[in-house]
Amino acid sequence: MRKLVLGTVAAAMLATSGFAADYVMKVSHVVSASTPKGKAADFFEKRVEELTGGKIDVQVFPNSQLYGDGEEIKALAMNNVQVIMPSLSKFTSIAPQMQLFDLPFIFRDKQHLYNVMDGEVGKILKSKVDEKKQMIALDYWDAGFKDLSSSTKPLILPTDANGMKFRIQSSKVLEAQFKSVGGNPQVLPFSEVYSALQQGVVDGTENPLSNFYTKKFHEVQSSLTMSEHGYLGYLVVMNEQFWNKLPKDLQANVSQAMKEATALERKESALEDAKIMEELTKYSKETNKLQIIELTPEQKQQWRKAMSVVYPQFYDVIGEDLIKKAIDTK
Ligand code: LMR
Repeated sequence: MRKLVLGTVAAAMLATSGFAADYVMKVSHVVSASTPKGKAADFFEKRVEELTGGKIDVQVFPNSQLYGDGEEIKALAMNNVQVIMPSLSKFTSIAPQMQLFDLPFIFRDKQHLYNVMDGEVGKILKSKVDEKKQMIALDYWDAGFKDLSSSTKPLILPTDANGMKFRIQSSKVLEAQFKSVGGNPQVLPFSEVYSALQQGVVDGTENPLSNFYTKKFHEVQSSLTMSEHGYLGYLVVMNEQFWNKLPKDLQANVSQAMKEATALERKESALEDAKIMEELTKYSKETNKLQIIELTPEQKQQWRKAMSVVYPQFYDVIGEDLIKKAIDTK
């Protein structure tokens, strides 16, 4: 889809020689193209096409245009799409151990998170996905820590969540997390969150700032609590049959492009939070329609205490040892 980046002369030569790519690689995701994931997917497209000299035509479909998050894993297994990058929570049905990343307050900071992802725990979890045969796990991408938001009462203490309806992704850990504070969790696809918030189907949700802002959830929420209580990341996966069909040199090109895209994605994610906070603060001051709540360390500690009770419920599913290994990762 990006022949023009080859340059006008090269593109003209290809057009007259009746050039067609040897492979078409469709890439689908559910978020805006301006999020870190969206930008990295577009960069991956550009780099694969450059490195393969156009032998692979990459086509990126953002915003659930091709598949929503209820369908994309199935579509990948059937090779109807070749690359997807669902959030780690969405692997629950095929590799429930991935829910480790959903455990509230498990990561001390970004460095701890990266050390877990890039270390032994991340490798073990990737292998659970690889075992599924139709797909191979490439790299972890990052969206950032999640914050709580609400359209009813401001969420300052865990008791404020009592009786509220929260949108969650399809993860048992996230379900337990909201139940632990008296909330009513409801699984909804990402593409339906805005209207569900607008119509009061749910009162609140949790998002990394990039998803919250690019999907304009601030228009349909009255408060945002900087809770950073949980994490949202991605695993980029490719259809195994498609990968196996690629000649070795093209596989090397794709791996190189993915390595570069991962580095860019993480950098973007780190930069994005600060930029979005500025925008949201401005919006909050100008419109008076969004209250931004910074928690004190004591208030945050109360959320941690209330939500962390869910851990033992997942010792069997995720593995107590693996959870311990993640916590103990330096
Ligand atoms: C969500 O459903 O909230 C996220 O997984 C969307 C995404 O891909 O970041």
